[in-house]
Amino acid sequence: MLQELKQKFKEYYGDGQVECIFSPGRVNLIGEHTDYNGGHVFPCALTIGTYMLARKREDRTLRFFSVNFEKAGVFVTSLDELTWKKEDRWTNYPKGVIWAFQQKGFEINYGMDVLVYGNIPNGSGLSSSASLEVATGLMLKTMFGFDQVTMTDIALWGQYAENRYNGVNCGIMDQFACAMGKEGHAIFLDTADLSYQYVPVQLTDAKVLIACSNKKRGLGDSKYNERRSECEEALKDIQKVMPIKNLGELTEETFEQVKGAIRRPICVQRARHAVLENQRTLQAVEALNKNEIELFGRLMNESHVSLRDDYEVTGVELDTLVEEAWKCEGVIGSRMTGAGFGGCTVSIVKNDAVDNFIASVGKAYEEKIGYPADFYVVDIGAGAYRIEE
Ligand code: GLA
Repeated sequence: MLQELKQKFKEYYGDGQVECIFSPGRVNLIGEHTDYNGGHVFPCALTIGTYMLARKREDRTLRFFSVNFEKAGVFVTSLDELTWKKEDRWTNYPKGVIWAFQQKGFEINYGMDVLVYGNIPNGSGLSSSASLEVATGLMLKTMFGFDQVTMTDIALWGQYAENRYNGVNCGIMDQFACAMGKEGHAIFLDTADLSYQYVPVQLTDAKVLIACSNKKRGLGDSKYNERRSECEEALKDIQKVMPIKNLGELTEETFEQVKGAIRRPICVQRARHAVLENQRTLQAVEALNKNEIELFGRLMNESHVSLRDDYEVTGVELDTLVEEAWKCEGVIGSRMTGAGFGGCTVSIVKNDAVDNFIASVGKAYEEKIGYPADFYVVDIGAGAYRIEE
C-alpha cells in the first residue's frame, strides 16, 4: 500500500523525501451526542483510516491530491488563501488545520505537496474528516518540528478547524479518538475535562460489526448544529434554577427535578437524551469492565431508542438496520453510531452469528430501502502515527 502511494506521489510531485502519516477512522460504541454536553463518550480508533504523504516546498504553494478522487486532479492553492471555499471540497479539511495552527500561533512559512488516500467508506459517519484533520495536524507537527504540540492539541485544533473553518459545531470525540486511539481498547473520555482511560475491548466470542447504510448525511450538518443549540437552550433554562455548567453534570434524578425549567418541550426531549445517554455510557463502561457484555449490549439498544425517539437523528435507514439486527440470533447489542442522519450502525455480534447477520439484515435492508448496505467486521487500532521506514 505505502509503496504504491509513494509511487503515485512521485508521479504527481516528483522524486525526493516524503513524510508519511496514518490516521484512523473511529467508531463510537456508546455515548452519542454527549460530547458537546460535557458528557462521556466511548469511541475506539479503527485500523482503516487516512494515509497522508507530504513534502515541504520552498514557496507558499499548497498542492493537494487524493487518490480517492483521482479525476478531480491536483488542487493548487497557497498559504495566503486559507479561507473556506465550496470548490475546494475535501481540501477544506487540511487547509482548515493549517489555518488553525496559524491561529494558535505556529508559523507555517512554507507550502507543501500533499497526497492522501483513505480507506474509510466516504460519508459513512466513521469520521473520515476528523481522520484527515488529525493526519494533517500530525503532519504539520512532524514536518515543521513543533515538538511541543501534543496529540491532544492536534485533536483540539482539528475540532477548532472543523468548528471555525468548516462551520460544523462538532464536539471533541472524533478528533480525540483518531489522535489518541489504542489498539484493542476503547477510550472512556470525559469531554468536560478531557480526562480519559483506555478500556480493553476483549470480546472472546463476539465481534464488532459495522453496517453502513450508504445513505449520505446530506442535511445532517445543519440538523447537527440545530440539535446542539437545542441542548444549549435547555442548559440555559436549567441554569436559572441550578448552577450547572453542562447537561452532563445531571443524573436522572436531578434532571427530573429541574426539567420543569426548560421552556420548550422539544428541548426537554433533547436534554433528556443527553443526560440519560451520559448515564448509560457510565454504566456501559462499568459493565464492560466487569465483563457483563449482555448488559453492555442492552445499553447500546437503549441508546438507539433514545436517539430515535428523543433526539430524532436516526431515520428509516439506520432504524431498519438496527431493528433488523435486533431480530437476529446472537446479536448482543446494536445501535446507530456517530452523528446520525445516515452513516453507520455498530453491533456486537456472536462470532457464529456474523454470517447470518450480514445475510438477513442485508436482505431486509435492501428490500425496504431499495439499495444495499455494506458490512465490515472491524479491528480496533491505534491513534495517528508517523510511518517510519
Ligand atoms: C459527530 C461529531 C461528534 C459527536 C457525534 C455524535 O460525529 O463530530 O463530535 O457529537 O457526531 O455523538
